[in-house]
Amino acid sequence: MYRTTTCGDLRLVNVNEEVTLAGWVQRVRDKGFMMWIDLRDRYGITQIILDEARTDKALFELAKSLGREFVIQVKGTVIEREAKNNHIPTGEIEILATDIQILNTAKLPPFTIEDETDGGDELRMKYRYLDIRRNPVRDNLIFRHKVAIEVRNYMSNQGFIEVETPYLIKSTPEGARDFVVPSRMNEGQFYALPQSPQTFKQLLMVGGMDKYFQIVKCFRDEDLRADRQPEFTQIDCEMAFVEQEDVLNTFEGLTRHLLKAIKGVEVAEFPRMTYDYAMKTYGNDKPDIRFGMQFGELNDLVQNKGFAIFDAAELVVGIAAPNCAQYSRKELDALIEFVKRPQVGASGLIWVKCNEDGTYKSSVDKFYTEEDLKLWAERLQAKAGDLLLVLAGETTKTRTQLSMLRMELAKNLGLRKADEFAPLWVVDFPLLEWDEETKRFHAMHHPFTSPKKEDLDLLKTNPAKVRANAYDLVLNGNEIGGGSIRIHDKATQKMMFDYLGFTEKEAENQFGFLMNAFEFGAPPHGGIAFGLDRLVAILGGQETIRDFIAFPKNNSGRDVMIDAPAALDNVQLKELNIKLDLLNF
Ligand code: AMO
Repeated sequence: MYRTTTCGDLRLVNVNEEVTLAGWVQRVRDKGFMMWIDLRDRYGITQIILDEARTDKALFELAKSLGREFVIQVKGTVIEREAKNNHIPTGEIEILATDIQILNTAKLPPFTIEDETDGGDELRMKYRYLDIRRNPVRDNLIFRHKVAIEVRNYMSNQGFIEVETPYLIKSTPEGARDFVVPSRMNEGQFYALPQSPQTFKQLLMVGGMDKYFQIVKCFRDEDLRADRQPEFTQIDCEMAFVEQEDVLNTFEGLTRHLLKAIKGVEVAEFPRMTYDYAMKTYGNDKPDIRFGMQFGELNDLVQNKGFAIFDAAELVVGIAAPNCAQYSRKELDALIEFVKRPQVGASGLIWVKCNEDGTYKSSVDKFYTEEDLKLWAERLQAKAGDLLLVLAGETTKTRTQLSMLRMELAKNLGLRKADEFAPLWVVDFPLLEWDEETKRFHAMHHPFTSPKKEDLDLLKTNPAKVRANAYDLVLNGNEIGGGSIRIHDKATQKMMFDYLGFTEKEAENQFGFLMNAFEFGAPPHGGIAFGLDRLVAILGGQETIRDFIAFPKNNSGRDVMIDAPAALDNVQLKELNIKLDLLNF
């Protein structure tokens, strides 16, 4: 038997017990006549003690040869420590070693395996298995496991059945590029890895499964960000005979359950906000509502007073930053610099200080009286002591810029509290989205999303105004999930493909199987998918999903540990009938 207990278990009640432990050497402290070894495993750290007086000489010598991260087995007696350590649960005891076996030696690790490590990102990714030995990474993986188990139990208790869907499929459009896999047996043909199991889960509804879920890997070839990985995990769900309200209630239930079970947090009914309202009020379809700073539009108050920038702008819009009226010139300049960064792209920022004494001071005093500024302050619901920040320009761009400024301010002011949870539903998304590059409409969610009945007439006259039965779950400024009520009849689905610029042949070719299935008694259905990585990260109080994935990819989509992607050798290429030298672009 390798061990009788783990490195996290022993307490004062175990004193005098004979135990066997196994683990990694975290640290050796050698005082010459006395030695301590910190032995680590997944469960904790236990101190091992050896001294000249009580320890066999050969064992003492062996202990001196131990290096960091050696794997050892220790036999010994649990004794009470003289100097207790109340920072760790096992801090009241130590093990007086009677035997040590070296199970494996270890090279000196390339970074220190402690909570605060000296290893940079790339190095830790290259040696991810060592990184996983560190508490923060290990704890994140255990945390993820707990969330996944809660999800499975909850869904199963609600009558959902987990069904696995294939990974080698045909392209499903979810807005990103596909990863493709060449088929050896079908020369010149390729599978695509699923961007989501969307069409399969709809087919399961046609198949009468009624309530499906799956914790499933999805693959999208898109640019990476803190909240995106090329392969990520969804909690994917679909329900038959439901309307939007049924889906929202079910998944509000799941989210509420997770917040309670995992974080001990009770949240009230989730607010609902239309897409239009979210864009107008927060400049964003995933607003962080843990704090205020809602937008106020100022066009009617600021235009035609001689300030050319405002006069020329389609939208003049501002926010009130709480208690920031005392900002110094330097602090104001930093905000101006922020909005002028290329990633934000504003040409300038107007500020107004709402002083505590009721006076106003602004960067546009030449054009506006204190009476004017007071009206702005009222519109932005500012109090004395607040700082108004105003941007002007084209509507969509300006909203996005102000939204970035709002988030930056919130971060600086400590308003994005990791232990506060503010979920909401954003509903009534537009069905279609204009794409400048291809000069045509794309489905904003995906082409299987149904339009709102009352907006159908607009499809011909003003397609951009058609709303969809689509919804997103937003948590602390992050899109956690998205879904919709689907089209379930062939005629509407065909019409949708037509609006999206598919020829009849293309539609038939790519989605004939789905439209055919709709002719065999497809029930009304709808669903949603949550991003598990994102959900876990946010519940864990962070926004970088990489920290919650055991073996993530870096920003260039590489796994630097196994060094993938990699070239294939000629034998493999030949088998797959891929002639790289013929691919001349
Ligand atoms: P959608 O494309 O909105 O919907 O994806 C659902 C959720 O998955 C997460 N997500 C990601 N997480 C990490 N890395 C990525 N690259 C990534 N892309 C998406 C997000 C997102 O909200 N089939 C539909 C769902 C449906 O209609 O039921 C779908 O995939 O949290």
